[in-house]
Amino acid sequence: MKTLIVYLSKFGNTRKLAEAMAETVKPSGNVRVVAIDQLAASDFDGVDLVVMGSPTHAFTLPEAVRTVLESLPLAILGGKSVAAFDTTVKPWPLRCLRASPKLLNRLTYLGGKPIARPETFFVKTKNPQKSGQIDLLLEGELERARRWAGELLDRSNR
Ligand SMILES: Cc1cc2nc3c(=O)[nH]c(=O)nc-3n(C[C@H](O)[C@H](O)[C@H](O)COP(=O)(O)O)c2cc1C
Repeated sequence: MKTLIVYLSKFGNTRKLAEAMAETVKPSGNVRVVAIDQLAASDFDGVDLVVMGSPTHAFTLPEAVRTVLESLPLAILGGKSVAAFDTTVKPWPLRCLRASPKLLNRLTYLGGKPIARPETFFVKTKNPQKSGQIDLLLEGELERARRWAGELLDRSNR
């Protein structure tokens, strides 16, 4: 079982979730965590499960993620299980204003087979006053990410 977890992260929180998911998936075989700006088409070679995560920016998927996905060859995810998650500020209730549904649509367009509904992990605030890596995740979200990764693993093995 080979898993690739790809993320975009401005303040480090989506990256932390990606790394927590990787810890859960590790015992199943090979897992790599890659920042989206480092992603190459060859990273998908031989991969069974692709998990992609992004912050919600301006109620949607950030341009940086869309640009990379648009540059990938069609059908590159053919035969692979895919899942998408986002990080979003807690008070936004509407799923359609989050990044993960759009992200999952794009992974499906590239040939991926969705194995879970788009998932959201919540952060405390939209505009932290400082710059750099800032801990914004609500309590319990890292643990929830580990559980979600375990469910993905079960489903991709079915
Ligand atoms: C330019 C910008 C736009 C944002 N727009 C939204 C938004 O529309 N909805 C929302 O819930 N959060 C929004 N946020 C907050 C991000 O979702 C939050 O910073 C992100 O989840 C933190 O993840 P990261 O540490 O991986 O960057 C925005 C943040 C930035 C920097």
